[in-house]
Amino acid sequence: MTEETVAFDVENGIAWVRFNRPDKRNCMNPALNRRMMEVLDELEFRDDVGVLVLSGEGSAWSAGMDLKEYFRETEAKGLGAIRKAQAEAYGWWRRLRWYGKPTIAMVNGWCFGGGYGPLFACDLAFAADEAQFALSEINWGILPGGGATKVVVDLLSMRDAMYHALTGELIDGRKAAAWKLVNESLPLAELKARVTEVANILLKKNPIALKATKDAIRRVAEMTYDNAEDYLVRAQEAANSFDNQGRKEGIRQFIDEKSYKPGLGAYDK
Ligand code: ACO
Repeated sequence: MTEETVAFDVENGIAWVRFNRPDKRNCMNPALNRRMMEVLDELEFRDDVGVLVLSGEGSAWSAGMDLKEYFRETEAKGLGAIRKAQAEAYGWWRRLRWYGKPTIAMVNGWCFGGGYGPLFACDLAFAADEAQFALSEINWGILPGGGATKVVVDLLSMRDAMYHALTGELIDGRKAAAWKLVNESLPLAELKARVTEVANILLKKNPIALKATKDAIRRVAEMTYDNAEDYLVRAQEAANSFDNQGRKEGIRQFIDEKSYKPGLGAYDK
């Protein structure tokens, strides 16, 4: 029987997707990378999925790339195999960065190296205080590749990114939150409830506006102010063309019906 490398359930609008190699601390081998892309494909356009949460079975979120199967065994097969394995890993992380639904990383435990790719790909991230993060590449003699260097440079201060990458030292969830690698950290026992609460906030929002907003946040980061202004006008007009009623209804319920206040919550979809 083939190993089920990814587990998932859909419940009340939330797709709970889990790295599922707990005996291997959920490190990412080629089979997991291929399966994760299939699972993302299956869930992205389902009407019963409004938010996707990525967590790990057992004590790890993900111990990064599988040093045996992703590196050693793939390298033994030559350059073509290396490029294929990279394309499979980077492919699902990219898919997740631009996912059609909002995504949340729920970091329940170990998170190393290559794990920073999917961590960054998720729109929001919540960690257990007990979780442990490291760019451990330096500990086994490589630089943080596969985007990991870019992730810490984008999210952390230069000094923290440099220290993190050069020392390979572990930081816990609290420090990860202080460094802004994740949004928040809280005791493991409270993590799922908090993530559910945040997912439920997102489920109440207009889904077309959510997708347009999450893409805008990532895109404008690389633009000048003028280019961002132009992009945002076009992005809003494109969103309007798919969702003519949503925003008009939002205005109507506030101005005419006076049934909610946009400053205090979402309109009734
Ligand atoms: N690659 C391959 N196998 C791994 C990995 C990995 N990244 N992480 C864990 N495993 C395997 C172990 O070899 C072990 O296998 P075995 O049961 O067949 O002996 C099994 O998972 C359990 O691992 P332990 O080390 O026994 O678990 P423990 O809970 O004591 O330690 C820890 C957990 C700290 C995560 C440790 O496994 C570890 O250091 N893993 C490597 C972390 C890492 O540096 N990853 C690479 C980052 S760089 C990159 O991703 C490019």
